[in-house]
Amino acid sequence: MDEELNGSRSGWIDIHSHLLPGIDDGCQSLEDSLECIERLQAEGFVGTICTPHIWPSLFPRNTWLNIQDHVRWLQSELETREIDYQLWPGGEIRLDLQSLPWLEEHGVPTLGNGRCVLVDYWDTEWDPDIHQMIQFFQEKGYQVILAHPERMLLPDPPLEDLLANLRDAGVWLQGNLNSISGGEGNQAQSRVDRWLEADLYKLIAMDMHGPDSLPGRFRGLQRLLQRYDKATAEQLLANVPQEIIAK
Ligand SMILES: [Fe+2]
Repeated sequence: MDEELNGSRSGWIDIHSHLLPGIDDGCQSLEDSLECIERLQAEGFVGTICTPHIWPSLFPRNTWLNIQDHVRWLQSELETREIDYQLWPGGEIRLDLQSLPWLEEHGVPTLGNGRCVLVDYWDTEWDPDIHQMIQFFQEKGYQVILAHPERMLLPDPPLEDLLANLRDAGVWLQGNLNSISGGEGNQAQSRVDRWLEADLYKLIAMDMHGPDSLPGRFRGLQRLLQRYDKATAEQLLANVPQEIIAK
């Protein structure tokens, strides 16, 4: 691959990834995780924030303490194999008011132990009470990042107004590389193209779910690099992720 294009000068950092094995619908084994890391390195990635689903009714064991333990274990497996790849803990928190007491009891997973929280939303309509959950994070001083809004199930007119309101309230938007490649369908691709042009995204991430999910993400990375200048790609995939880790 072209050294100029693959980002290896500073290195891409993926801030949204289901890389930890066996704790959600991402990688299912250590071998899966090691294969993904090898392929990520080949594309110019130098590190990953591991963000398993935080959805207490489905994955009750994904507490902040358990995730941090898993990351330490996987990092030690890399060190044993002399693989130079940095991991950080995190989580992808489903926006659901019923999760709030659980988060208060078990702690809020933040990206790289910093001040950013990654959230997602999957209902077909926006529940206005969800703003309470966003405020809960903001009152604790966290920077809220909404994952892949282009994949949300709301139709365009209410969704675009909602995203404008969320951005006004200080929420950052994170787009997915698989949407850029078309892997999430035409609607998600046309939204991500339009919103990238409009400069609505703070950053872009892989949101990989194991080895089989990688090709679509890598095609999205190549399409991003073909359509935008290197400085834009660096900003979305290297500079902002570094800012998040340092936050
Ligand atoms: Fe995800």
